Amino acid sequence: MKQIQKAAELQAAVSEAKAKGLQIGLVPTMGALHEGHLSLIERALKENDLVVVSLFVNPIQFNNREDLEKYPRTIEADLELIEGLIAHADCRAKELLAFTPTVDEMYPDGEPTEIVYHFGPVEEVMEGPRRPGHFNGVAVVVRRLFDLSQPTRAYFGEKDYQQIAVIRALLEQMLPTTHYPLPTLVPCPIVRADDGLALSSRNKRLTPAARQMAPAINATLEQAAEMAEYEEVDDVKEWVLDTLASWHEVNECGEGLRFEPEYFEIVDAITLQPIADWTDADEHGAVGCIAVWLDGVRLIDIVKF
Ligand code: PAF
Repeated sequence: MKQIQKAAELQAAVSEAKAKGLQIGLVPTMGALHEGHLSLIERALKENDLVVVSLFVNPIQFNNREDLEKYPRTIEADLELIEGLIAHADCRAKELLAFTPTVDEMYPDGEPTEIVYHFGPVEEVMEGPRRPGHFNGVAVVVRRLFDLSQPTRAYFGEKDYQQIAVIRALLEQMLPTTHYPLPTLVPCPIVRADDGLALSSRNKRLTPAARQMAPAINATLEQAAEMAEYEEVDDVKEWVLDTLASWHEVNECGEGLRFEPEYFEIVDAITLQPIADWTDADEHGAVGCIAVWLDGVRLIDIVKF
């Protein structure tokens, strides 16, 4: 594994690899790596000759300063985890580059506030209106990573389900004007803890009592998937929101712990538009997407119907 901090150095390594006809896999991350990220990297290592893992906490995708400040930064541990993977994984890739730029290196002309994307309906639901500017910030950084690494394939986890739809829209917009072949988008399944909680860097912020309660999100969604066999869409939605909102446990200080659901939407798996009837999603399938607050931590998860 080689750590690269400079954009020009990454571009040089990529040009050399492309000249040899090598395939490049890109795994964009914000660090604080867990098994979910490692599963993306392992897959990229199996499917490509060279893998670029970016570790960059992208300030322009945080619409909340406190969230940016609290975001875990564990670069040394992250690099060790990646090093372990390339040493042990059964892989096609001969080389792994860990790209760890500074903010100035990524945005040499300052934060690019002049770049404004419009992705239409996929960004107008769920996370979009609740986190203004978030997807624009994601698109700007992902576009920069695509330009620098010109990957054959780009790997993203399905926990951030709407992010994948936004990146699909970004690729569609890039197609007419981009001078290099665009990557294939590779959505990868969520990795869960043994108790079902979707792995997330935010889980580190849960107190022991909240961590014990959090798997109820996935358990509720799994039950919802069973209910979908015989219940209407609106009834399943209402049941999920009511079940979580009425859940009540007591933490280590004797205080009540509750879920505060922000949204639960059942949407078409590709257009992300809410469906009224299961048959509305016959072509692509339906997905349930949820955001829930638990003890000051915002957790998201999905279920496929
Ligand atoms: O999913 C994430 O961790 C981030 O949104 C990404 C794609 C690395 C862009 O900063």
